[in-house]
Amino acid sequence: MNTEANQNTEANQDWVARSLAAVWHPCTQMKHHERVPLVPVARGKGAWLYDPQGNGYLDAISSWWVNLFGHANDDINRALKDQLDTLEHAMLAGCTHAPAVELAERLCALTGGTLGHAFFASDGASAVEIALKMSFHFWRNRGRSEKREFACLANSYHGETIGALGVTDVAIFKDAYDPLIRHAHVVASPAAVGVDEAIAAMRALFERRAANLAAVIVEPLVQCAAGMAMYDASYFTQLRALCDEFGVHLIADEIAVGCGRTGTFFACEQADIWPDLVCLSKGISGGYLPLSIVLTRDDIYAAFYDDDVTRGFLHSHSYTGNPLACRAALTTLDLFESANVLAENRRKSSLLHEALQPLSTHARVRNLRNRGTIFAFDADIEDKTFSRRFFANALQRELLMRPIGTTVYMMPPYILTDDELRLLAQRTRETLDATLAEAT
Ligand SMILES: Cc1ncc(COP(=O)(O)O)c(C=O)c1O
Repeated sequence: MNTEANQNTEANQDWVARSLAAVWHPCTQMKHHERVPLVPVARGKGAWLYDPQGNGYLDAISSWWVNLFGHANDDINRALKDQLDTLEHAMLAGCTHAPAVELAERLCALTGGTLGHAFFASDGASAVEIALKMSFHFWRNRGRSEKREFACLANSYHGETIGALGVTDVAIFKDAYDPLIRHAHVVASPAAVGVDEAIAAMRALFERRAANLAAVIVEPLVQCAAGMAMYDASYFTQLRALCDEFGVHLIADEIAVGCGRTGTFFACEQADIWPDLVCLSKGISGGYLPLSIVLTRDDIYAAFYDDDVTRGFLHSHSYTGNPLACRAALTTLDLFESANVLAENRRKSSLLHEALQPLSTHARVRNLRNRGTIFAFDADIEDKTFSRRFFANALQRELLMRPIGTTVYMMPPYILTDDELRLLAQRTRETLDATLAEAT
């Protein structure tokens, strides 16, 4: 190794050591980094992230499902540079600005005008908190303050703040905080028991508790954090009818599945219904800046419109509707329009589907599945270290992947070339075989 490479390696190690000393990383048992590598990322371009030595890693999970159009995207960069020289931030209480207005109007138009009011926040969990509070406060303003309970699906994930954990059913995130949590009703998921049984279970709950239920919150089509558990859109259609019959709000958490990820811009379009409240985040800003949005209907908005300040929705975050984040989102919407993304994604999805087919007959692979540009399979192994070992083996093959337990999944940016898609399929298989071989 030459001197320059030596210096780069030392700089890398220094950076990693300093991070481990000073940065408390998310969703991480820090001690595991004694064995699991921490990747120093110096720059990104397209689907690739690069360390300071120039080693590339194909970001096969869009950096936690946010990066839709690649890192350092030319269009978003240009728009943000322009926005930076125009208006970096202004509070959205008492003031307004073009990027927030335009984004609200364009998202509303994407719902055919049904969800005509946009409330801004900064991340997915806060959008969920807002939707829950908004639903409860709506009923309270309508004189129904006994409607204060919520329902969610088994294995649901809606974020990790205390309120969002109340409608989350993933033990690893929830159990430690159990005494702090106000629990929702947890109802059978269609991904586990099928559509008919899940609808029957929800009907049974509604028959008992509808008078006290404000809303049910659901991840349409794919319960991502539960391990990419997929179900039929007809569940969501029937759930809408049930909510109408019993007077319960339907909240669609499209934070992970929205923005084209399942094949339509909103996943709930596939069920041919509109919920009362939709939560969007993650991909909406193209993976650039923290932004979330709750979209809702006229009748919900109208219930807050009053001379009395306490009937208003008094929720706020300092960076609500940040112009830079909104501008990134507007450019993301432009990219959807200009590049015919949804049609092109269908083609790429078939290509990746085809390339992954050898895995369908792999002796240690179960339930190879896909919806839109989400692909997943379960490795047939009982091993708590599988995910960490797979991660490390993937890095050696220039892939950035983080299995959920023994579920290996891909959620790549939409800009992968055909060659990159084939490479992803081939290296995933190699990584799986290497990880399984270590365990035996
Ligand atoms: C369906 C769903 N809801 C909510 C969240 C929480 O979003 P955030 O991590 O931005 O708080 C996530 C994050 O993965 C999610 O997948």
